[in-house]
Amino acid sequence: RIRTDSFTHLEPGHHGHSLTGKHVLSVDMFTKDQLNDIFNLAQTFRVYVGKERSVDHILRGKVMASVFYEVSTRTSCSFAAAMQRLGGGVIYMDETSSSVKKGETLEDSIAVMAGYADVVVLRHPTPGSVLRASHHCRKPLINAGDGIGEHPSQALLDIFTIREEIGTVNGLTITLVGDLKNGRTVHSLARLLTLYNVHLRYVSPASLKMPSHIVNFVTSKQIPQEEYNSLEEVLPDTDVLYMTRIQRERFSSQEEYDKACGHFIVTPQLMTRAKRKMVVLHPLPRVFEISPEFDTDPRAAYFRQAECGMYVRMALLAMVLDPDGASCPNFFL
Ligand code: CP
Repeated sequence: RIRTDSFTHLEPGHHGHSLTGKHVLSVDMFTKDQLNDIFNLAQTFRVYVGKERSVDHILRGKVMASVFYEVSTRTSCSFAAAMQRLGGGVIYMDETSSSVKKGETLEDSIAVMAGYADVVVLRHPTPGSVLRASHHCRKPLINAGDGIGEHPSQALLDIFTIREEIGTVNGLTITLVGDLKNGRTVHSLARLLTLYNVHLRYVSPASLKMPSHIVNFVTSKQIPQEEYNSLEEVLPDTDVLYMTRIQRERFSSQEEYDKACGHFIVTPQLMTRAKRKMVVLHPLPRVFEISPEFDTDPRAAYFRQAECGMYVRMALLAMVLDPDGASCPNFFL
C-alpha cells in the first residue's frame, strides 16, 4: 500500500498542490512544472495499476459528478474509472435523462451538482459554456470538451503518451492531420505543445485548416509551424503523426461533410514512407482515417493512448482534490 504523503509530487505539507481546488478549463493554465508533476504521478499510477497494487485509499469518500451534454466513450469512462480506482464514487447526469428536459439551465444544473460532488467533469457542445458554468460551480470544474473549443485533459494525455512512447517531447516533429478547424483536441494540443521545443506541421483539407487564433498563439511562442496539403510529403520527417476524425456533427450539410472526407488515410502501405521509430496517435473515435490493418503495427499507439488517459485523469483528480485535504479551495459564485 502507498500512503498519500508518499506522493512527493503532491508537495505534502505545502497546503496541497498548485492545482488543488482549481478549475481546469484551458491548457493555458498549466506550467511546465505542473505538467511534469501530472506526468510523474500518472506514471506512478500506471506502474501501481499494472502491478495490481491498491491506490483506492487516495480519494476514498470523494465524489465526482460526470456531466455530459454530448456523447463520449473515452473521456466519460476513463474519468469514471480513474475516480473509482482511487476509491472515490461517481454520479452521472446527461442532457437526455435529466431535468434539462424540463428546461433547467446549465448554470442551475452545475450549481446543484457542485452541492453533491467534490469535483465536476463537464462536456458541452457550446464553446465557452464550461467557462460560463464555472462561475456557478463552487467545486473544481474540469472541462471535458466544450464544442470546438478545448479539451485540456486530452492534451495532457496526448503529451503523456508521447513521453511514454518516445521518451521525450523536445526535438520532435509533430504532424496534426484532419479536421483541424473543428477538432478541439488539436486546438488544446497545439497550445500545450508550445511549452516544449517542437516543430508543428498541419495537414488538412483546405476548408478545415487550423484556426488563425491557434496559429497566432503558436507563432507568439516562437514554435515553428507549417501547413501542408499532402500527408506523403510530411511523413518521412514526422515523429508523431496525430490523426483526427472529420467531425461530422460540426457540419451544416452532408454534402459539405462528404467533400471533406477521405483525403488522408493511414494504411500499412502509406506508412512504409514513415520512420520505423515514430508513433501514430488518434484521440478516437476513428471512422475511416486509420485503416484497421495498421492496428498491429508497433507504431500504432492509439489504444495505448486511450489507456494512458485513465492514468493522467487519475493524476489530475488526485491533484485537484488534494488527498491531504490541506488545501483551501478558492471558489466564488
Ligand atoms: N477522445 C475523446 O474525447 O473521446 P470521447 O469523445 O469518446 O470522449
